Amino acid sequence: LTLENNCIVIFGASGDLTQRMLIPALYKLYSHQKLSSSFAILGVSRSTYDDQSFRDKLIKDLASDDNVDHESLDKFCEHLFYQVMDPENKYEYKALKQRIQSIETALKIKSNTLFYLATPPSLYSVIPQNLAAHGLNIEDDGWKRLVIEKPFGYDLESAIALDKSLYQDFTEDQIYRIDHYLGKETVQNMLVLRFANSIFEPLWNSKYIDYIEVTGAEDLGIGSRGGYYDNAGAMRDMIQNHLLQVIAMVAMEPPAVINADSMRDEVVKVLQCLKPLNEDDLKHNLVLGQYTKSHVRDECLLSYREEKGVPEDSRTETYIALKMFIKNWRWDGVPFYVRTAKRMPTRVTEVVINFKKTPHPVFSANPPDNKLIMRIQPDEGTLLSFGLKKPGAGFETEPVAMDFHYSNLKNSELLSAYERLLLDVLKGDATLFSRSDAVSACWEFVQPILDYKKNKFDLYGYAAGTWGPIEAEALFKNGQTWRSPCKNLTDTDYC
Ligand code: BG6
Repeated sequence: LTLENNCIVIFGASGDLTQRMLIPALYKLYSHQKLSSSFAILGVSRSTYDDQSFRDKLIKDLASDDNVDHESLDKFCEHLFYQVMDPENKYEYKALKQRIQSIETALKIKSNTLFYLATPPSLYSVIPQNLAAHGLNIEDDGWKRLVIEKPFGYDLESAIALDKSLYQDFTEDQIYRIDHYLGKETVQNMLVLRFANSIFEPLWNSKYIDYIEVTGAEDLGIGSRGGYYDNAGAMRDMIQNHLLQVIAMVAMEPPAVINADSMRDEVVKVLQCLKPLNEDDLKHNLVLGQYTKSHVRDECLLSYREEKGVPEDSRTETYIALKMFIKNWRWDGVPFYVRTAKRMPTRVTEVVINFKKTPHPVFSANPPDNKLIMRIQPDEGTLLSFGLKKPGAGFETEPVAMDFHYSNLKNSELLSAYERLLLDVLKGDATLFSRSDAVSACWEFVQPILDYKKNKFDLYGYAAGTWGPIEAEALFKNGQTWRSPCKNLTDTDYC
């Protein structure tokens, strides 16, 4: 896919996402000559900037980085423009259209426009409608694409309503729903590990796999995002999108080819097989928690309820652990244990495939663990653990491991999630973007949990900086349990 000249219009341009993620990613792509020869970035928001003050604001952080080449940064700035406007006011879109046209004429850009909605979700319906009212959705003389950030809806009903509203003026092909987890090299690598090698896939099913763990742990609290987080909770913030996408990569069938339709057809098929939690599961296979105040290494960590923007009687979960199943031929009966939380001892995201023990224990009553760890972050890599003979007399086994770390790759140019995904949108490649039916399938799975939380439910406290409520141990049976991950893939002790 080639990259045509284009104009990127960012709504919410004075916000955090634009400054922290989008502009650094676009600059990196520019400095590695990955953007088209002619392009423009037009920031749009209510704040009063002009082109120059917008450029100054955006590149402040980049300019203070010692590794940045100032000459190329100055050149990049020449592509940045700014327009003050109220995105809710449909009359102001006339001026926006004229501004886009005049930039396109000046920079000799064909009328290819990417509208990036880095705004609060309340504007996700309004902006596309206003764009369409001025013909900015029409693809007569160039493509028009819309990028939206999660959350795609607040629950199943609002997600369906959002799609309905977007479809009034844009087609599914024009809509790119960003889930930055799909942009991560290590998440994409799960597909390659599974489908480019013949040694794992024959074992990748309920016959050989005992259980699967998915951990998305963060050591940080909610920082300054109390207002947002208290309405979302860990379920909406991490499971509904990022971790269900990761589960889809682990559990899906091989696509016939890697393209947007083929990949996303397989993703949706497996997501539609997620077994909804019934009343009994909600009681026994779901544990919700919230962090409480604690002291870790001389640091006093606030409780969730003491964080800025959080009501002091909040019942929002910052920890969630659940046991879930996929009802299909490959996975029936294999538990997937999923946990995510803020304020855990360390930041680690990983998937652990726990293989079944040998059918007959030849060497000892307790055969070694066979695990495949796919580490998403940090210390990105893969580790396979198994048993070998302990040197010496007899036939005792000893656990050993083979590990690969991305940091050992030489001369490889890793793109960050936003770099990869922005480049893909500009090329028109939707393979790594969530399709509407997949988003709905995720909400279908999550909705019973959201409904359950509307009534009285158990919310367990856990001290900030620990691995969560002890009650989560009750999810396990038959010796299954969480691995104890550390920052480094190869370390296994609790940190
Ligand atoms: C975001 C969530 O989508 O993902 C945050 O809103 C979370 O709460 C973040 O911290 C995790 O992303 P990553 O890439 O740091 O694992």
